[in-house]
Amino acid sequence: MIQLQAVTQAYGAHEALRGIDLDVAPGEVFGIIGRSGAGKSSLVRTINLLNRPKAGKVIVAGRELTALSEPQLREARREIGLIFQHFNLLSSRTVAQNVALPLELAGVAQPEIKRRVDELLDLVGLSAMRDRYPSQISGGQKQRVGIARALANRPKVLLSDEATSALDPEATRSILGLLKQINREFGLTIVLITHQMQVIKQVADRVAVIDAGRIVEQGPVIEVFTRPQHATTRSLIEEIVPQALPESVLARIRALMTAQPAADGQLLRLAFAGDDADRPLLSDVIRDHGIELSIVHGQVDEVQGQPFASLAVFARGAREKLNAATAQLRGAGVVVEEVAHVG
Ligand SMILES: Nc1ncnc2c1ncn2[C@@H]1O[C@H](COP(=O)(O)OP(=O)(O)O)[C@@H](O)[C@H]1O
Ligand SMILES: [Mg+2]
Repeated sequence: MIQLQAVTQAYGAHEALRGIDLDVAPGEVFGIIGRSGAGKSSLVRTINLLNRPKAGKVIVAGRELTALSEPQLREARREIGLIFQHFNLLSSRTVAQNVALPLELAGVAQPEIKRRVDELLDLVGLSAMRDRYPSQISGGQKQRVGIARALANRPKVLLSDEATSALDPEATRSILGLLKQINREFGLTIVLITHQMQVIKQVADRVAVIDAGRIVEQGPVIEVFTRPQHATTRSLIEEIVPQALPESVLARIRALMTAQPAADGQLLRLAFAGDDADRPLLSDVIRDHGIELSIVHGQVDEVQGQPFASLAVFARGAREKLNAATAQLRGAGVVVEEVAHVG
C-alpha cells in the first residue's frame, strides 16, 4: 500500500532521511518509532509529499507520487488521511464544521456532507458534541474530531504523527482502540509514528525503528520485542520491558549464592512469545535436567493479543546440566541470554 524506495531528504546540508526503504502492506497497522529528531515527522511529510524527497520513489495506493505534478498530487493526497499531535482543528468552527471542511474543499454537495458528517461523528462517538467548539472539548475528543476529519474523504491510508503524544494514558488507550477498530472494520492501512513503545505495543502489527534518518531494525512487533537487535531498539523497549536488572535483584542472587555456595549458578534472561508462553517450558527443563529455577524478576504481558514473557531466572545445578537446559530452552524457541555468571 505504501512503498518508499531509497528515499533521502535534507534540510540544507542536514540529511534528515538517509536512504529509507519501506513496504507497508494493505490493511496493516505499521508503527514507526524513534527518538526526537530521528526523522519521523520528515518521513510522514515525505510519504504524502508535503516534502518532496531529494531522491528515491514514493508509491501510495499504486500511484507513484514522486512522478505526479502538483495538481495531480493534490488529488492523490485525498487518499491519505493525516492526524497530528496538536490536532490542528479550526477554533472558529464547531466539531461538525471541522469534520465537514475537507468535504467542502473537495466540492461535495451539502446534503451529502451532512450525511457523511453524521456518519463520521457517530463512528468516533461524538454525535452529542457536534455543536461544541474545540475549546469546549477534551484532548481525547479533539483527536476524535481529527480522526473523523482525516477519514472524511475515505482515504486508503491514515498517517498518524504522534497523535497520542499530547494525551494522558487513558485518552491514549481510547484513541488507539478507536484506530484499531477503524483498521479492523474498514481495512484501513495505518502508519503510526510515535516515540512511545507503549503505542507500538498496543496496536501495531509491524514496527520499524528509525534512528538518525535510517531504519535500523524492523519486523513483526512480537519478534522485535523478543529479539531486539539494535541498541536504539533495546533502549526504546526498556520503557515497557526492563532490559537491566535492578540492583535489588542482583543483591538477592548474591544472597542465594552465599547461602548455598557449592552449586554453580547462572542468571538468565528469557524471552518468549506466542504459543511458547503457554507451554510448560520451565517445568520441562527442571524435570529433564534436575536443575533448580527461581524466577527473580520479569513480567508476563500481552502484545497484540499474544502472550509475551520476559523473565530473569536464577538457575542452579551442575554446569553441564545448566548448559543442557539452556540448549533445550533455545531449541524450544526461547531467547536465552546469560546476564551474569555468579559463583
Ligand atoms: N524545516 C526544517 N529545517 C531544518 N531542519 C529540520 C527541519 N525539520 C526538521 N529538521 C531537522 O531534521 C531532523 C529530523 O527532524 P524530524 O523529522 O522533525 O524528527 P522527529 O519527528 O523524529 O522528531 C532533526 O534534526 C530536525 O532538527
Ligand atoms: Mg516529529
